[in-house]
Amino acid sequence: MNTKLFNIEEIRRRLIDEEGVDCHFFYCETVDSTNDWAKREGRKGVPGGAIYLAERQTAGKGRRGRIWHTAVGTSVSMSILLRPDLPADKIFMLTLVMGMAVVDGIRRVCDLDIQIKWPNDVIIGGKKICGILTEMSSGMDYVVIGIGINVNVSSFSEELAGTSTSLFLEQGRFVSREFVTVEILNSFWKYYKIFMNTGDISAFFQEYQKILVNRGRSVRVLDPAGSFCGMALGINGRGELLVKREDNGATEAVYSGEVSVRGLYSYL
Ligand code: BTN
Repeated sequence: MNTKLFNIEEIRRRLIDEEGVDCHFFYCETVDSTNDWAKREGRKGVPGGAIYLAERQTAGKGRRGRIWHTAVGTSVSMSILLRPDLPADKIFMLTLVMGMAVVDGIRRVCDLDIQIKWPNDVIIGGKKICGILTEMSSGMDYVVIGIGINVNVSSFSEELAGTSTSLFLEQGRFVSREFVTVEILNSFWKYYKIFMNTGDISAFFQEYQKILVNRGRSVRVLDPAGSFCGMALGINGRGELLVKREDNGATEAVYSGEVSVRGLYSYL
């Protein structure tokens, strides 16, 4: 098979080294997981701002212990190591910052209607195009945000076909993985800088609400303290999902660090 691998020089050339963000870009063809790679570097004391991209992951991780399959030559698997000086309860907002950056980055390359399934999935046409996995070190001295994007994947297994899609399938043409990578990174640094200055998500709050696919949908909140069902109303200024409970009518602010939100009747 003639697989076209990443053109790393093209990515390096196009990355804007944003003022105030010391951006270092690392690539390797095969790694266990880019998140684990970034975490290993984090433990060694590598400064925040490092980006880890791989063509192939042998042990790619999804949320909740799931396996993440990386399609070689057609997807993007990348992690960013950060050392934000933030209280633990604000760290989870970084997942929203990344979600918005992925939406923004894809919009710069494709003409597609993109949504977010709070807080980790980026959606096109009701199916998942990108998953985000945010991990924090136990000493809270660094954070790793990993993204897996289906760019030019042309087909999915029977198991995934109902819930996953790719830019290629949605757009009907090949999309440059290099462009997507660079646009997402540049958007991320833009939003990250604002987020670190303001300490909140006001820079993209309105837009996030607009593209929130959960809004007005019945969801099941899987909370270790007790699961419940309700109607998702939107997010609040802290990035929490507001859910009006079915059982007692109370509106709960759901914090993504603790819970998982599932559509009650479908993936969404
Ligand atoms: C999810 O949807 O469950 C999150 C998927 C996150 C996958 C990415 S691929 C790059 C990075 N490295 C990993 O091992 N996982 C994340």
